[in-house]
Parts: sequence; C-alpha cells; structure tokens
Amino acid sequence: MNITTNITQHLNLSFPLMMAPMYLVSNEEMMKAAIRNGIAGVFPAMNYDSNGLKNVIANLHSYKTNFQSGNYGVNIIVQKSNPVFEEQLAVCVGLKVPFFTTSLGNPSIVIEKAHSYGAKVYCDVTNLTHAKKCANAGCDGFIAVGQGAGGHAGPYTLQVLVPALIENFPEIPVVASGGIANGTGILSMLSLGASAISMGTRFIASHECKVSEEYKKAILEAGMEDIVLSERISGTPNSIINTPYAKKIGLKQNWIEKLITKNPATKIYFKKILQKKNMTLLQKSILPGNYNNLWIAGQTAELINDIQFCDDIIQQLKQETFEGFTQMVVKFFRQS
Ligand SMILES: Cc1cc2nc3c(=O)[nH]c(=O)nc-3n(C[C@H](O)[C@H](O)[C@H](O)COP(=O)(O)O)c2cc1C
Repeated sequence: MNITTNITQHLNLSFPLMMAPMYLVSNEEMMKAAIRNGIAGVFPAMNYDSNGLKNVIANLHSYKTNFQSGNYGVNIIVQKSNPVFEEQLAVCVGLKVPFFTTSLGNPSIVIEKAHSYGAKVYCDVTNLTHAKKCANAGCDGFIAVGQGAGGHAGPYTLQVLVPALIENFPEIPVVASGGIANGTGILSMLSLGASAISMGTRFIASHECKVSEEYKKAILEAGMEDIVLSERISGTPNSIINTPYAKKIGLKQNWIEKLITKNPATKIYFKKILQKKNMTLLQKSILPGNYNNLWIAGQTAELINDIQFCDDIIQQLKQETFEGFTQMVVKFFRQS
C-alpha cells in the first residue's frame, strides 16, 4: 500500500519517508536500499571528496532507473565554516542531483542553482525565524528538526514546530525530523500535517551502515536519558551519546569559547577550528577499538533494539504505519 503526499509526488516516492543525511554514516549501500524501497535516501556531500561525490551520484543516478519509485538527494551544509561548499554544489548541479537538503546558513545559492534545472530544495529549520528566511529564498519545503533529533537538534517539540510551520507557511510542505523511529511515530507526524518524515538514528543500527559495532551496540543499549546535547562538537548543540569521553570533555563551552563564539569577528574562525578538530575525533569514533568516542545519536536510541538490514527496517516501518492506522480507526469505531 502506498501513501501519497505532495512530497511523495515531488520526489516520486511510494512512501513519505526520507533516510536522513548523516555525516560519516550515510553511504551508497544505504541510499540504494532507500531507493529500491520507494523512499528517499539523502547523504551529506561532506562524506566524500569531489571525485567520490561524482562517483556516488553517477551510481545512484543509474541505480534509480531500475525502479518505478524511490529517489536520492544530497545534503549541503551552507555555512561559511564549510570551506568546500561551493565545490560540492558545483559537482551536484553539474550532475543534476534530483533534490537537495540544506542545513545551517543561507540556502539561497543552493535554491537558485537547483531551480535552474528543476531540482527541489528542502531546508532544515528549527524555528520560525529561520523558516521565514528559507521561505523568502524560495525553498520547496521545510525539514522541521525538533527536540531529541540526532545531530543538530532543535529546541522545540515537533508537536509544536510542525503545526506552527503549517500555520505560518501554508503553501510550503513540511518534513518532520527528530525522535521518530517507528510506524506510529510516522503516523503521528502525518496526522499533524507533515508531508513526510525524515529518520536518521534508526538507520545507524543497520547492517549496511559501516560504523563500528561498538557504536551500533551503544545505540541499542542507550536509553533516552543517555542522549545529551553537546556544544563542544560544532558550537551548535549536537545530540550525542553520553560516553565516558563526552563526560570527560564536558558538554558546555567554557567562558573563553563562549566569548569567541559570540563575537561576529572571531566566530567563524573559531567554528572552523572547532569543527576541524572534532571532525577528526568523530572520524576516529566510527572506527573499531577507539576509546575517545563521540557518537552522534538522537533520543530514538531508546526505541531501537536491533540491527537489521535497511530493507527490513523500511518494510517494518511501512507495516507499522498501516497497522497503526487500522488500529486507530478500529479504536474510534469502537468508541463511537
Ligand atoms: C550520526 C548523525 C549524523 C548527522 N549528520 C548530519 C549532517 O551531516 N547534515 C545534516 O543536515 N544533518 C545531520 N544529522 C541530522 C539528521 O539528518 C536528522 O535530522 C536526524 O537524524 C533526525 O533525527 P533522528 O536521528 O531522531 O531520526 C545527523 C544525524 C546523525 C544521527
């Protein structure tokens, strides 16, 4: 059974689900699983150098032609602290990537280039102010990133953010992201008016994902109380597992870091240095046998209890959504 929304129509999907972009985690195999199951796979351009990016796009482009539905997109970090952003965008535009998601910064340039060949752009937003900027820039949809999301989580619950976006920008479709890991979660977001759901942490616990078994095991073992927000990774609050190393380095910036982050003249340089240092730490953390682990994950770690193939995860999510809907209807009829 398929579900049709304006996003599934925009992107040619049979089910309104995106496999969310995850730095150092998303890979070609995971994207192919998304495509063959009729959903959208999104990966960060940051996961590849220019040649790698060209290869993976070419491979996904040809893989996609084997299926009636299913798609892929590229996530671009449009912040000044991403020094290769223009190069990444040029590669993607040159190869006519079907759609983009943007995080942080001003998405105007991505929207302009993507629209020049008819590609869609969905912008991560965590509040109405940033949403207004993206709407003015002409985005095709919002990705509402709420509390408890893996990575850069937003401050608001999706139960508030999704309807607030729909009320303020009724023409712009909303993808709900953060804290969703099962079919009833998907159903709840569709009932709030979201046009699709984006899910990250669930897919780390998959066989196709190539991070260390320790990282996957930590997700299975973590409860919601083990997920904390750290300012130490990128300067923007990041949801991570509270590993011994995360505890050791602390979650908050010290007063000097805060001062530098607040000053517009020094902010950009500080963020660049911080990100470079922590990218190395994150890269080491996905490898086996590492002790200083910084593992990004959202609160859905609470709900994830097994490592499965992506095909099985997606099929299970679809089944749970349909079963959840049926059970809800039965409940209403019984009560009326
Ligand atoms: C390990 C990891 C890495 C992430 N990297 C990125 C990234 O590079 N770019 C981005 O826009 N979002 C990134 N995110 C956020 C996800 O795209 C998505 O918003 C989030 O995973 C949704 O919340 P969930 O994990 O509860 O499903 C990352 C999330 C995780 C868990």
